[in-house]
Amino acid sequence: MVITLDGLAASGKSSVATGMATALNVPFISSGLLYRLVTYAAIHSHTDVHSQDALLAMLEGNQLRFEAKTTGNVVYLNQVNVTAECFSSEVDAQVSVIAQHPQIRTWVNQHIRQLEPPFVAEGRDMGTNVFPDASVKIFLTASSLVRAKRRVAERDQNLAEIQKGIEARDAMDANNSAPALDAMLLDSSELNLEQTVEQTLEFIKTKLG
Ligand code: DC
Repeated sequence: MVITLDGLAASGKSSVATGMATALNVPFISSGLLYRLVTYAAIHSHTDVHSQDALLAMLEGNQLRFEAKTTGNVVYLNQVNVTAECFSSEVDAQVSVIAQHPQIRTWVNQHIRQLEPPFVAEGRDMGTNVFPDASVKIFLTASSLVRAKRRVAERDQNLAEIQKGIEARDAMDANNSAPALDAMLLDSSELNLEQTVEQTLEFIKTKLG
């Protein structure tokens, strides 16, 4: 069983996916973390993020590893745990550029498809591209202001800067972020985390019986 949870930047996908996965007793997979890992590895190795060829060569020459642990997803660059480093403002600013390269998308998608279900797959195109036959698909939205407010505690930038960054990423990610036609659209602007998770679980129950 694969359940997909897609949504916009900072829409709370990881927290909601964690809540869903805990309630369903399955792991969750953050595809965004894999894009972040490639981005961190590129920055770390001074690779030009605009050059797909340079990025592919960088991926050949380094060991990038992803683990879905029960406590959360963990990523390693050459055996070093770099999970926390993948959530810096610098990675935030570059990751959408990396995610535009078709062969980088293929690299990430191959990684995710190798994993053994059941799981909740979280990202932008999980329900459309990666798991078009998923049992249940959910697409999470929220206004850019609400999303920026939720992120302000996690970044060393002010609210306006964060909101601007989120809107820039929305525009860049738009091509890869359309909801699947058969996804439930869930706007979490007026909901807290618990209520959002509750709604996804209700939807799963209706779908799977
Ligand atoms: O969900 P996130 O903010 O951690 O994702 C980081 C970036 O990766 C985001 O800017 C868009 C990209 N991404 C993507 O293009 N496709 C996915 N399935 C997941 C993330």
